[in-house]
Amino acid sequence: MSNDVVELFDRVADRYDEVLPFFESFGRLCVDRLPMPGTGDRLLDIGAGRGAIAVAAQARGFAVTATDASTGMVRQLQREHAGIDARVMDAGRLDFDEDTFDVVTAGFVMHLLDEPQAAVREVKRVLKPGGLFAFTGPGRVPDGFEFADGSDALFAEFSRYLPPGGSMGEPFEEREALAAAGFTGVDETDLRIELAVPDAETFWQWLQTHGTRKFFDDLSAERRAEFRARLIADLESRGSVVLRRYAWLYRGWA
Ligand SMILES: C[S@@+](CC[C@H](N)C(=O)[O-])C[C@H]1O[C@@H](n2cnc3c(N)ncnc32)[C@H](O)[C@@H]1O
Repeated sequence: MSNDVVELFDRVADRYDEVLPFFESFGRLCVDRLPMPGTGDRLLDIGAGRGAIAVAAQARGFAVTATDASTGMVRQLQREHAGIDARVMDAGRLDFDEDTFDVVTAGFVMHLLDEPQAAVREVKRVLKPGGLFAFTGPGRVPDGFEFADGSDALFAEFSRYLPPGGSMGEPFEEREALAAAGFTGVDETDLRIELAVPDAETFWQWLQTHGTRKFFDDLSAERRAEFRARLIADLESRGSVVLRRYAWLYRGWA
């Protein structure tokens, strides 16, 4: 487990997904693609954050356990959603018996892990035979997809100012990792959201409240100020600010 990653999410936990409902929107899309639960079906959400998937899954009828390595995130979950069993736990070492859950989910987590393959094996172990693992993450941009806010060009330009070795997570071949752990019937779907953003400053604030914050923490103060000024000028010249993003949903059966 990377302490830097967990420390970052601890630091942003109180504002995470509060500025714009980005993760909540993707969480709902993910849960829409889960089977309807039978009576008492158990769902484990790993790297649950403030419950983007866990809350929607509970509303769908699952008995939900949510785990996260960040104490700050788990505290928020416990405070806001008392009906969810929330615990601090590393995705790579799940403290559950084998064959415990009907579904395991992970929203925007797997690409942040140092050893995603180990987490996939753990998920397989705690799933009942025939259970479903569904997880989302960023991936290649589908043809014709545009970010609609121009920030992708700025991120590409400013990434050259980052210190070496500063990224989060390890390269991860989703299909290969799922197959190696014994999952079958693997499929992938792209999910898209589009959110109206009140103004450019809100967009900047949103960038500070989740994993992207690390990018700005790793820039010098001058570069960060330059990025902010150029982003805001560009967004204001567009008339309206729209956050249009995509994610990949992978599903595999144990
Ligand atoms: C981008 S957030 C996603 C949170 C939530 N699933 C959502 O969709 O909003 C990534 C989450 O993974 C958690 N995380 C990072 N490394 C982890 C690890 N090794 N084990 C468990 N959780 C981890 C972070 O604390 C953070 O809450």
